[in-house]
Amino acid sequence: VASVAVVLPAAGSGQRFGDHANKLFAHLDGRPLWTHAAETLLRRVEVNLIWLVVSPQDHDRFADQVSSLSQPDRVRLVIGGAQRSDSVAAALAEINRSSSEATRWIAIHDAARPLLKDSDVSAVFECAAQTGAAILATPVTGTLKRGSGDNSACQTIDRRGVWVAQTPQVFAVDVVSQAYARHRGRPATDDAELVERTGHPVSLISGAADNLKITYPEDLAVAAALMQTRLS
Ligand code: CTP
Ligand code: MG
Repeated sequence: VASVAVVLPAAGSGQRFGDHANKLFAHLDGRPLWTHAAETLLRRVEVNLIWLVVSPQDHDRFADQVSSLSQPDRVRLVIGGAQRSDSVAAALAEINRSSSEATRWIAIHDAARPLLKDSDVSAVFECAAQTGAAILATPVTGTLKRGSGDNSACQTIDRRGVWVAQTPQVFAVDVVSQAYARHRGRPATDDAELVERTGHPVSLISGAADNLKITYPEDLAVAAALMQTRLS
């Protein structure tokens, strides 16, 4: 793929992390958590710009930290919305307004996933170039139970063929634009779901299981330990 615009949603408030500030400002290996994925994606020659989606209250702090990145000129700030899908939609609107002809692919990656591997980026980019839509994912390893209202197990779900979605999720511009144009606010926790609703197939690329999303404080400790083993 060439001419990829990256959307990096960072406009959440990190409720489950439970700090006073956005979890993305927490430090990992001596720098803000969100900058890890940003630097990994800035190293890609296929990427033209990174659209960092932020909340109004975090805008100035992000802007300040962008200036410390290796290539701040390749990063644009966009104001996001209440739900993650609102934040992505805001970025897509900006991309369409400003650079639609140059951009052929959109790669959406949670700013809260700092351990993104270069080889996984290559794999999902290559697959998307063939199929128009591809996401990183990992096969479910645990046993799945459906609980009833009083938390008693009422069903064991067959895990064969069940995957946990990750990011990046990579789409041809037209594919993702159409999916968001049809989106009428029905909640979706990832972008691929909106594409699936249009009937366009989404390829699953088996990625590293440690491409974890920082959700709870303990995830940060796990990420720090994993990062140390990668560096050593
Ligand atoms: N995100 C966003 N806009 C929103 C909500 C989330 O851009 N309205 C981003 C987050 O900043 C994060 C990614 O989407 O990088 C994944 O969301 P999640 O892990 O749920 O982060 P938060 O929504 O911040 O955390 P929480 O759900 O615990 O409040
Ligand atoms: Mg959230």
